[in-house]
Amino acid sequence: MSAPPRPAKTGSNGSSTHELRPVTVPDFLAAKASGRRLTMLTAYDYTMARLLDAAGVDSILVGDSLGMVVQGQPDSLAVTLDEMIYHTRLVIRGVRRSLVITDLPFMTYQVSPQQALESAGRLLQQSGAHGVKLEGGVRSAAAVAAITAVDIPVVGHIGLTPQSVRRLGGYKVQRNAEQLLDDALALEAAGAFALVVECVPAEIAQRITAALKIPTIGIGAGPHCDGQVLVTPDLLGLFNELRPRFVKHYAELGQEVMRAVEDYCREVRDGEFPSAEYSFR
Ligand code: KIV
Repeated sequence: MSAPPRPAKTGSNGSSTHELRPVTVPDFLAAKASGRRLTMLTAYDYTMARLLDAAGVDSILVGDSLGMVVQGQPDSLAVTLDEMIYHTRLVIRGVRRSLVITDLPFMTYQVSPQQALESAGRLLQQSGAHGVKLEGGVRSAAAVAAITAVDIPVVGHIGLTPQSVRRLGGYKVQRNAEQLLDDALALEAAGAFALVVECVPAEIAQRITAALKIPTIGIGAGPHCDGQVLVTPDLLGLFNELRPRFVKHYAELGQEVMRAVEDYCREVRDGEFPSAEYSFR
Protein backbone atom coordinates (compact mmCIF):
# COMPACT_ATOMS: atom_id res chain seq x y z
CA MET A 1 0.00 0.00 0.00
CA SER A 2 1.67 3.24 -1.06
CA ALA A 3 1.56 6.41 1.02
CA PRO A 4 -1.14 8.81 -0.16
CA PRO A 5 0.07 11.97 -1.91
CA ARG A 6 0.10 15.04 0.31
CA PRO A 7 -1.48 18.21 -1.11
CA ALA A 8 0.74 21.10 -2.17
CA LYS A 9 1.54 23.92 0.26
CA THR A 10 -1.77 25.72 0.73
CA GLY A 11 -1.99 26.95 4.32
CA SER A 12 -5.03 29.14 5.08
CA ASN A 13 -2.81 32.21 5.34
CA GLY A 14 -0.89 31.14 2.26
CA SER A 15 2.31 30.32 4.11
CA SER A 16 3.74 28.34 6.95
CA THR A 17 7.03 28.49 8.78
CA HIS A 18 6.97 24.76 9.53
CA GLU A 19 9.19 22.15 7.97
CA LEU A 20 7.50 20.63 4.93
CA ARG A 21 8.81 17.08 5.19
CA PRO A 22 5.89 14.80 6.18
CA VAL A 23 6.00 13.40 9.71
CA THR A 24 6.53 9.63 9.72
CA VAL A 25 6.18 6.76 12.17
CA PRO A 26 9.98 6.59 12.68
CA ASP A 27 9.88 10.33 13.54
CA PHE A 28 7.64 9.44 16.49
CA LEU A 29 10.18 6.92 17.79
CA ALA A 30 13.04 9.36 17.17
CA ALA A 31 11.17 12.03 19.13
CA LYS A 32 10.98 9.71 22.13
CA ALA A 33 14.70 8.99 21.89
CA SER A 34 15.63 12.68 21.62
CA GLY A 35 13.13 13.97 24.18
CA ARG A 36 11.28 16.21 21.66
CA ARG A 37 7.65 16.49 22.77
CA LEU A 38 5.02 15.39 20.23
CA THR A 39 1.82 17.29 19.46
CA MET A 40 -1.44 15.69 18.33
CA LEU A 41 -4.91 17.23 17.87
CA THR A 42 -8.19 15.92 16.50
CA ALA A 43 -9.80 17.01 13.23
CA TYR A 44 -12.85 15.71 11.41
CA ASP A 45 -12.95 17.84 8.23
CA TYR A 46 -10.85 19.49 5.54
CA THR A 47 -10.91 23.07 6.84
CA MET A 48 -9.76 22.27 10.36
CA ALA A 49 -7.19 19.72 9.14
CA ARG A 50 -5.70 22.37 6.85
CA LEU A 51 -5.39 24.85 9.71
CA LEU A 52 -3.87 22.35 12.16
CA ASP A 53 -1.43 21.11 9.54
CA ALA A 54 -0.36 24.65 8.57
CA ALA A 55 0.10 25.48 12.27
CA GLY A 56 2.61 22.63 12.54
CA VAL A 57 0.91 19.93 14.61
CA ASP A 58 2.88 16.66 14.34
CA SER A 59 -0.14 14.41 14.11
CA ILE A 60 -3.87 14.73 13.41
CA LEU A 61 -6.19 12.22 15.00
CA VAL A 62 -9.54 11.60 13.33
CA GLY A 63 -11.05 10.54 16.63
CA ASP A 64 -14.32 8.71 17.11
CA SER A 65 -15.01 11.63 19.47
CA LEU A 66 -16.69 12.88 16.28
CA GLY A 67 -19.69 10.94 17.60
CA MET A 68 -20.04 13.67 20.24
CA VAL A 69 -18.56 16.81 18.71
CA VAL A 70 -19.77 16.38 15.09
CA GLN A 71 -22.80 14.10 15.37
CA GLY A 72 -24.19 15.30 18.73
CA GLN A 73 -24.45 11.78 20.16
CA PRO A 74 -23.96 11.13 23.91
CA ASP A 75 -20.86 8.96 23.30
CA SER A 76 -18.77 7.38 20.54
CA LEU A 77 -20.41 3.95 20.53
CA ALA A 78 -22.61 4.37 17.44
CA VAL A 79 -19.88 5.69 15.13
CA THR A 80 -19.39 3.38 12.13
CA LEU A 81 -16.40 2.38 10.05
CA ASP A 82 -17.95 4.07 6.99
CA GLU A 83 -18.28 7.33 8.94
CA MET A 84 -14.64 7.13 10.01
CA ILE A 85 -13.62 6.53 6.39
CA TYR A 86 -15.69 9.53 5.24
CA HIS A 87 -14.28 11.97 7.83
CA THR A 88 -10.71 10.72 7.40
CA ARG A 89 -10.91 11.33 3.65
CA LEU A 90 -11.96 14.93 4.31
CA VAL A 91 -9.04 15.38 6.70
CA ILE A 92 -6.46 13.78 4.41
CA ARG A 93 -7.27 16.31 1.67
CA GLY A 94 -6.22 19.16 3.97
CA VAL A 95 -2.95 17.63 5.16
CA ARG A 96 0.49 17.85 3.62
CA ARG A 97 2.75 17.28 6.64
CA SER A 98 1.02 15.86 9.72
CA LEU A 99 0.79 12.12 10.39
CA VAL A 100 -2.92 11.24 10.18
CA ILE A 101 -4.16 8.58 12.57
CA THR A 102 -7.77 7.42 12.49
CA ASP A 103 -9.84 5.56 15.07
CA LEU A 104 -11.21 2.07 14.64
CA PRO A 105 -14.74 2.51 16.01
CA PHE A 106 -16.53 0.30 18.54
CA MET A 107 -17.16 -3.31 17.45
CA THR A 108 -14.94 -3.13 14.37
CA TYR A 109 -11.96 -4.87 16.04
CA GLN A 110 -13.18 -6.54 19.25
CA VAL A 111 -14.67 -9.69 17.67
CA SER A 112 -11.40 -11.29 16.54
CA PRO A 113 -7.89 -10.37 15.33
CA GLN A 114 -9.10 -11.25 11.81
CA GLN A 115 -11.96 -8.74 12.11
CA ALA A 116 -9.49 -6.12 13.43
CA LEU A 117 -7.13 -6.73 10.50
CA GLU A 118 -9.91 -6.47 7.92
CA SER A 119 -11.33 -3.28 9.49
CA ALA A 120 -7.90 -1.65 9.74
CA GLY A 121 -7.06 -2.57 6.15
CA ARG A 122 -10.33 -1.14 4.83
CA LEU A 123 -10.01 2.01 6.92
CA LEU A 124 -6.46 2.64 5.72
CA GLN A 125 -7.06 1.80 2.06
CA GLN A 126 -10.32 3.68 1.68
CA SER A 127 -9.42 6.78 3.72
CA GLY A 128 -5.72 7.33 2.97
CA ALA A 129 -4.86 7.52 6.70
CA HIS A 130 -1.29 6.82 7.75
CA GLY A 131 -2.18 4.65 10.75
CA VAL A 132 -5.02 3.50 12.99
CA LYS A 133 -5.77 3.75 16.70
CA LEU A 134 -7.73 1.29 18.79
CA GLU A 135 -8.67 1.12 22.45
CA GLY A 136 -7.80 -1.45 25.11
CA GLY A 137 -4.61 -2.91 26.59
CA VAL A 138 -3.92 -6.61 27.16
CA ARG A 139 -7.29 -7.60 25.68
CA SER A 140 -6.53 -5.73 22.40
CA ALA A 141 -2.93 -6.95 22.05
CA ALA A 142 -3.83 -9.81 19.67
CA ALA A 143 -5.72 -7.36 17.44
CA VAL A 144 -2.73 -4.98 17.42
CA ALA A 145 -0.37 -7.86 16.59
CA ALA A 146 -2.57 -8.94 13.65
CA ILE A 147 -2.69 -5.41 12.24
CA THR A 148 1.00 -4.58 12.70
CA ALA A 149 1.95 -7.95 11.15
CA VAL A 150 0.93 -6.46 7.77
CA ASP A 151 2.78 -3.20 8.53
CA ILE A 152 -0.23 -1.03 9.27
CA PRO A 153 0.98 1.40 11.95
CA VAL A 154 -1.07 1.20 15.16
CA VAL A 155 -1.47 3.61 18.08
CA GLY A 156 -2.78 1.99 21.28
CA HIS A 157 -5.11 3.72 23.75
CA ILE A 158 -5.23 2.87 27.48
CA GLY A 159 -6.54 4.39 30.70
CA LEU A 160 -9.96 5.91 30.19
CA THR A 161 -11.09 4.23 26.98
CA PRO A 162 -14.28 6.06 25.90
CA GLN A 163 -15.69 3.00 24.11
CA SER A 164 -15.90 1.37 27.59
CA VAL A 165 -17.89 4.26 29.07
CA ARG A 166 -20.94 2.11 29.88
CA ARG A 167 -18.87 -0.38 31.93
CA LEU A 168 -16.80 2.37 33.56
CA GLY A 169 -19.98 4.23 34.51
CA GLY A 170 -18.72 7.56 33.17
CA TYR A 171 -15.56 9.38 32.12
CA LYS A 172 -13.45 8.70 35.25
CA VAL A 173 -9.75 8.84 36.12
CA GLN A 174 -8.20 5.34 35.92
CA ARG A 175 -5.87 4.50 38.84
CA ASN A 176 -4.95 0.80 38.63
CA ALA A 177 -1.21 1.30 38.08
CA GLU A 178 -0.25 -2.38 37.68
CA GLN A 179 -3.03 -3.06 35.17
CA LEU A 180 -2.15 0.08 33.20
CA LEU A 181 1.52 -0.89 33.08
CA ASP A 182 0.64 -4.42 31.92
CA ASP A 183 -1.62 -2.91 29.24
CA ALA A 184 1.10 -0.56 28.01
CA LEU A 185 3.77 -3.28 27.84
CA ALA A 186 1.39 -5.67 26.04
CA LEU A 187 0.64 -3.08 23.35
CA GLU A 188 4.31 -2.25 22.86
CA ALA A 189 5.14 -5.97 22.55
CA ALA A 190 2.30 -6.35 20.01
CA GLY A 191 3.90 -3.70 17.78
CA ALA A 192 2.09 -0.42 18.57
CA PHE A 193 4.31 2.56 17.68
CA ALA A 194 2.72 5.00 20.16
CA LEU A 195 0.25 4.93 23.01
CA VAL A 196 -2.50 7.36 23.97
CA VAL A 197 -2.79 7.43 27.78
CA GLU A 198 -6.07 9.03 28.84
CA CYS A 199 -7.18 10.26 32.29
CA VAL A 200 -4.49 8.66 34.40
CA PRO A 201 -2.72 10.22 37.41
CA ALA A 202 0.50 11.97 36.35
CA GLU A 203 2.71 9.65 38.44
CA ILE A 204 1.31 6.52 36.78
CA ALA A 205 1.68 8.06 33.30
CA GLN A 206 5.29 8.91 34.21
CA ARG A 207 5.96 5.26 35.18
CA ILE A 208 4.41 4.00 31.95
CA THR A 209 6.39 6.52 29.87
CA ALA A 210 9.65 5.46 31.53
CA ALA A 211 8.89 1.76 30.97
CA LEU A 212 8.27 2.07 27.20
CA LYS A 213 10.47 2.60 24.16
CA ILE A 214 7.47 3.90 22.19
CA PRO A 215 6.14 7.42 22.92
CA THR A 216 3.16 8.02 25.19
CA ILE A 217 0.68 10.71 24.11
CA GLY A 218 -1.19 11.97 27.16
CA ILE A 219 -4.66 13.43 27.53
CA GLY A 220 -5.47 14.20 31.13
CA ALA A 221 -2.33 12.26 32.05
CA GLY A 222 -0.04 15.03 33.30
CA PRO A 223 3.19 16.53 32.00
CA HIS A 224 5.49 13.49 31.86
CA CYS A 225 4.18 11.89 28.68
CA ASP A 226 6.23 12.11 25.47
CA GLY A 227 3.47 14.11 23.79
CA GLN A 228 -0.02 15.52 24.30
CA VAL A 229 -3.34 15.23 22.48
CA LEU A 230 -6.57 17.20 22.91
CA VAL A 231 -9.94 17.25 21.20
CA THR A 232 -9.69 20.40 19.06
CA PRO A 233 -13.24 21.73 19.61
CA ASP A 234 -12.48 21.54 23.38
CA LEU A 235 -9.17 23.40 23.04
CA LEU A 236 -10.83 26.09 20.91
CA GLY A 237 -13.83 26.53 23.22
CA LEU A 238 -16.20 25.38 20.46
CA PHE A 239 -17.71 22.43 22.32
CA ASN A 240 -18.75 23.35 25.83
CA GLU A 241 -21.12 20.52 26.72
CA LEU A 242 -18.35 18.68 28.56
CA ARG A 243 -15.55 20.67 30.24
CA PRO A 244 -13.05 18.13 31.55
CA ARG A 245 -10.57 19.60 34.06
CA PHE A 246 -7.58 18.63 31.92
CA VAL A 247 -8.69 20.72 28.92
CA LYS A 248 -7.08 24.13 28.59
CA HIS A 249 -9.13 26.50 26.44
CA TYR A 250 -6.64 28.26 24.17
CA ALA A 251 -9.50 30.28 22.62
CA GLU A 252 -13.22 30.87 23.16
CA LEU A 253 -14.34 30.46 19.57
CA GLY A 254 -17.84 29.39 20.61
CA GLN A 255 -18.44 32.87 22.05
CA GLU A 256 -16.82 34.48 19.02
CA VAL A 257 -19.09 32.52 16.64
CA MET A 258 -22.18 33.56 18.66
CA ARG A 259 -21.10 37.21 18.55
CA ALA A 260 -20.48 37.13 14.79
CA VAL A 261 -23.79 35.41 14.02
CA GLU A 262 -25.75 37.79 16.28
CA ASP A 263 -24.08 40.78 14.53
CA TYR A 264 -24.94 39.31 11.11
CA CYS A 265 -28.60 38.71 12.05
CA ARG A 266 -28.94 42.25 13.47
CA GLU A 267 -27.33 43.89 10.41
CA VAL A 268 -29.51 41.92 7.95
CA ARG A 269 -32.65 42.77 9.92
CA ASP A 270 -31.63 46.45 10.12
CA GLY A 271 -30.83 46.61 6.39
CA GLU A 272 -27.16 47.41 7.13
CA PHE A 273 -25.82 44.32 5.34
CA PRO A 274 -25.11 44.07 2.45
CA SER A 275 -24.01 47.71 2.05
CA ALA A 276 -22.63 49.10 -1.24
CA GLU A 277 -19.20 47.73 -0.36
CA TYR A 278 -20.56 44.16 -0.54
CA SER A 279 -22.81 44.68 -3.60
CA PHE A 280 -22.20 44.69 -7.38
CA ARG A 281 -23.05 47.79 -9.40
O1 KIV B 1 -11.60 10.01 19.86
C1 KIV B 1 -10.76 10.81 20.27
O2 KIV B 1 -10.80 12.02 20.00
C2 KIV B 1 -9.69 10.28 21.10
C3 KIV B 1 -8.88 11.28 21.88
C4 KIV B 1 -9.65 11.66 23.09
C5 KIV B 1 -7.53 10.76 22.23
O3 KIV B 1 -9.52 9.10 21.19
